[in-house]
Formats: sequence, structure tokens, C-alpha cells
Amino acid sequence: MSSAKKKYARITTKTLLEMKANGEKISMLTAYDFTLGGIVDQAGIDIILVGDSASNVMAGHETTLPITLDQMIYHASSVVRAVKRALVVVDLPFGTYQADSKEALRSAIRIMKESGAHAVKLEGGIEVKESIERILKAGIPVMGHLGLTPQSIYKFGTYTVRAREEEEAARLIEDAKMLENIGCFGIVLEKIPSELAAEASQLTHIPIIGIGAGNKVDGQVLVLHDMLGMNKEFSPRFLRRYLDLDQLLHEAIGKYSADVKSQDFPNQNEQY
Ligand code: KIV
Repeated sequence: MSSAKKKYARITTKTLLEMKANGEKISMLTAYDFTLGGIVDQAGIDIILVGDSASNVMAGHETTLPITLDQMIYHASSVVRAVKRALVVVDLPFGTYQADSKEALRSAIRIMKESGAHAVKLEGGIEVKESIERILKAGIPVMGHLGLTPQSIYKFGTYTVRAREEEEAARLIEDAKMLENIGCFGIVLEKIPSELAAEASQLTHIPIIGIGAGNKVDGQVLVLHDMLGMNKEFSPRFLRRYLDLDQLLHEAIGKYSADVKSQDFPNQNEQY
């Protein structure tokens, strides 16, 4: 059992600030359903993200853009029912917060009320400041997301590393400071140079959680299906696979199919 799991019975946004202040690293993983949400929670992960990556790994879309607010609420409520310790953060999907701040607040309220989650995450800096402020004013904790923001994939044109150029790097630091100043409890930094992520972490008091952002930040997040090895086609440099679940599932399901066809299953002890 990790020391953080022993120490904190329930993770709140305050716990995360405390962890950063104490130099304790924060673990974060995605989950989208009751069964895996429960396993991730029992394993001692601090933050469970019901990410809009559900659009890719659960629904098979090429991007995160198609997933709807109703679908995010369905995934989030399934996860929340299983979780006893972790902080559950839910992505506001594309198109539910960019138009205006009132719509952003309505979307965030639906997530909190209908799923029982603890916080929302949304992508962007200064361009979504007003929306974030309105959500925060309603008492809803917000996590920011800067660097590679997959909801803007058609603007970027590619999933390559962001903020390598000075101008974009300076803007990212400004956005990170702004998100802290208006009251966000944490920020995800995706696919940016490690030194830039380290600078963002040093300049802020809120936890900076990296994905493809090096190890000089306050915590790490990965997509569950990727780190379990369920998605063979996706292998960016930052991904570490902890299991070859794709192979294990193929073997188990193939064995079951063969046993049915050979009439080995069910045997005498497996029937009434
Ligand atoms: O949707 C998601 O899974 C995310 C992570 C990549 C941080 O936003």
C-alpha cells in the first residue's frame, strides 16, 4: 500500500495541495466504468479522470470531439458509484463550454448533479477564463489542461509535442499562472518539453500533472487502456505499458472459444 493511500482516507482538492506542498507525487489514471473505476480506486490512485478519451477508447472515435455531455455523465456516474477514496474529475466535452460562460456553468452543473463527481476539467487558457471563473464561482472545483489539447486537434493538425517555440512556451506559463490565480486546483500539462513543465510546476502552488511532460512535475496521468496494453496502435514515447492485456485477453477468449467448440466447457463440475 502506498504511503499516500495509508495517510489519506479520502482525496480532496485540499489533499492534493498538501501533497504538492509536501513534495508527494500524485497518481492519476482514467476510468470510464464501474468495474475498472473500482479497481483503479482500490489500487490507491489519487485522482480518477473520466476523460473525454472515452470517445476514443470506449466508443472508437478517431478524436475526442464527438462525445456528448450525456455520454460523459453516463461514464462518470458509473465510475462514481465504485469510488470510495479517489477524487473523481470529469472532462467537459467539446462544445459544452466554449460558446459562453453561462453554457459552461450549465454543463458543469449537470456533471456535478447527475454524476456525483467531485470536479471538472476543461481545456484551454485565457480563451476560456470567463467560463472557468463562472464555474468556480458556483463552487465547482476546476482543473485546467494546457499544452496539447486534443479537443483542438483540427487547429493543431497533429498530435506532436507542443510549446517548443519560445512564444508558445511563454503563453503556456502565463496561462498556468492565470489558472492558478483564478482558483483552479490543478492543471494537466500534455505533451510539452520536460523543462517547460518543470518551470510551470516551480512557478505555481497547485499540482501540475503531466502526460508526456517529464518527471519534474507534481504527478502523472495516463489513459488506463494505454498503460494496460489494450491499444497496440498507440505507442508514443511517453507511454509505459504495465501489462500486455491485449495479448492476455486474446489468449483467454481464444481458449474459451476452443473449449466451447471441443465441448470441454462446461464439464461435469460446471453444470447442475
Ligand atoms: O481525456 C483524457 O484522457 C485526458 C488525459 C489525456 C489527460 O484528458
